[in-house]
Amino acid sequence: MAKLLVLTLLGLGLALFRDHRSSYQTRLNAFREVDPVELPNCNLVKGIEAGSEDLEILPNGLAFISSGLKYPGLKSFEPDKPGKILLMDLNEEDPTVLELRIIGSKFDLSSFNPHGISTFTDEDDTVYLLVVNHPDLKSTVELFQFQEEEKSLLHLKTIRHKLLPNMNDIVAVGPEHFYATNDHYFVDPYLKSWEVYLGLAWSYVVYYSPNDVQVVADGFDFANGINISPDGKYVYVAESLAHKIHVYEKHTNWTLTPLKVRRINTISLQNDN
Ligand SMILES: *[C@@H]1O[C@H](CO)[C@@H](O)[C@H](O)[C@H]1NC(C)=O
Repeated sequence: MAKLLVLTLLGLGLALFRDHRSSYQTRLNAFREVDPVELPNCNLVKGIEAGSEDLEILPNGLAFISSGLKYPGLKSFEPDKPGKILLMDLNEEDPTVLELRIIGSKFDLSSFNPHGISTFTDEDDTVYLLVVNHPDLKSTVELFQFQEEEKSLLHLKTIRHKLLPNMNDIVAVGPEHFYATNDHYFVDPYLKSWEVYLGLAWSYVVYYSPNDVQVVADGFDFANGINISPDGKYVYVAESLAHKIHVYEKHTNWTLTPLKVRRINTISLQNDN
């Protein structure tokens, strides 16, 4: 009788494990077949061989590109070199990239590890570039002023906060004001991997400003990209491991109300509306 009970429990454990394993693989899209596609109007842009996590295009056609992210579990193509911010002028016939020089005595270039980026342009046309940085795998936001003539970024300030422990992407709504996604809840690498493996969905979105910081949305299975509509009324959050895009209404007090969720079943170049 005892043997039967042990066997039943073992079987049950194994079944639960199998079930969990398969849902984990589904969350990661481990079984997706990737078909080659023809890209007739695309050109390879040279000089971004270390990969890119994010890009941001100004209304005048200048694009900032974040390159060289080192992130646990992801392959790094230039493990011994710091990351960089590239500039590309999309008005050119055959645009090339140029590395922006970073100036500012207090900024440590050797540990620069840029992830999500966003820009904010104020009334007198000063362009600020806000960059999620992971120096030594920590999370900070670096605030830069873009100097177009000099093709450089002047480092103004580093922002850290206990509600910004695992930033992935940001969207700026002021020079020092932004929404940010935290792709994990835990900071400890061991707890982080269990958090993802078990699918706890404890990832969250924060609003940051110098005198008000608050969690504005939570319960995500890996909150990743974040953006805002051109009219500033809606905020969009990509939930990677759930394959969903969330749409929120943004209020004047910066809180967000969920409006709708769009499930992304296939990544397709065709319009699937
Ligand atoms: C923020 O504004 C919304 C919409 O006006 C309101 O429903 C909500 O209660 C406000 N929240 C706080 C914390 O003031």
